[in-house]
Amino acid sequence: MEIQGSNAIMVGGASGMCLATAEKFVERGGKVAILDLEKSDGAAVAERLGGHFFPCNVMDYAAMEAVIGEAVAALGSVQFCVNTAGGGVAKRTIAKDGSMHPLEDFQRIIDLNLIASFNVNRVVASHMAKNEPNEVGERGVMINTASIAAFEGQIGQVAYTAAKAGIAGMTLTMARDLGTIGVRVMTIAPSLFATGLTAGIPSEAELQLTKDAAFPKRMGRPHEFATMAIAIYESPMMNGSTLRVDGGQRFAPR
Ligand SMILES: NC(=O)c1ccc[n+]([C@@H]2O[C@H](COP(=O)([O-])OP(=O)(O)OC[C@H]3O[C@@H](n4cnc5c(N)ncnc54)[C@H](O)[C@@H]3O)[C@@H](O)[C@H]2O)c1
Repeated sequence: MEIQGSNAIMVGGASGMCLATAEKFVERGGKVAILDLEKSDGAAVAERLGGHFFPCNVMDYAAMEAVIGEAVAALGSVQFCVNTAGGGVAKRTIAKDGSMHPLEDFQRIIDLNLIASFNVNRVVASHMAKNEPNEVGERGVMINTASIAAFEGQIGQVAYTAAKAGIAGMTLTMARDLGTIGVRVMTIAPSLFATGLTAGIPSEAELQLTKDAAFPKRMGRPHEFATMAIAIYESPMMNGSTLRVDGGQRFAPR
């Protein structure tokens, strides 16, 4: 897909990896709508990027349908969607005191990461289906965000791992579902990245947390996620898989 003249919906675009992707997309001639929590920096970011801000909560599934509709109306059409809204909870299956992982915490993390991502995808895909295909038949590209914890979750990450493994798991099937309309679906699985809360981790702790990486032994930077997201957008053969962006890191059990 060609960025010049394309429009993107950036869910979680007020900060971190999705913000860096929005910045690169605009630099290269695209237009963006930032969808993020009301309390986020979304309004200021959208103003700086000459885009639009739509406050939302991805867990409000019905409202997301309306919000995405408004974003598409403001942009005129949508060809690209990047979604990073998500997060985890630190709880073991059985805690040291013998108490069970509360089911509602497990459910909430599945809802926030997996159900919300699928909801965004199905709504955005329904809009992309109306696009005129480009000369190679493409109508759009969607990127979801997993984590390397989808494959080697650490102790206390059971809900997060299940949710992110679900995102990785649905990628190929959704790409197959949407292949007939020329919409590609990819997932990026980052290792630790310096965003939001992790951006404040001191360098000694960063070295400790990334000691299992091959190279570089450091947290990723938001622009390194953006580089990958943009490459996916531009490469017609990138479809149906989950790409690790992790410096060769494999999480140990703790
Ligand atoms: N940073 C890391 O180390 C790391 C590693 C692996 C995976 N991830 C995944 O990356 C994503 C977080 O992205 P980031 O690291 O750039 O963090 P970030 O905090 O900088 O950005 C996330 C954005 O998502 C928004 N958001 C959160 N919950 C939302 C909701 N319910 N509705 C709408 N918007 C919401 C936040 O306001 C924020 O602007 C998560 O899915 C996380 O699981 C992060």
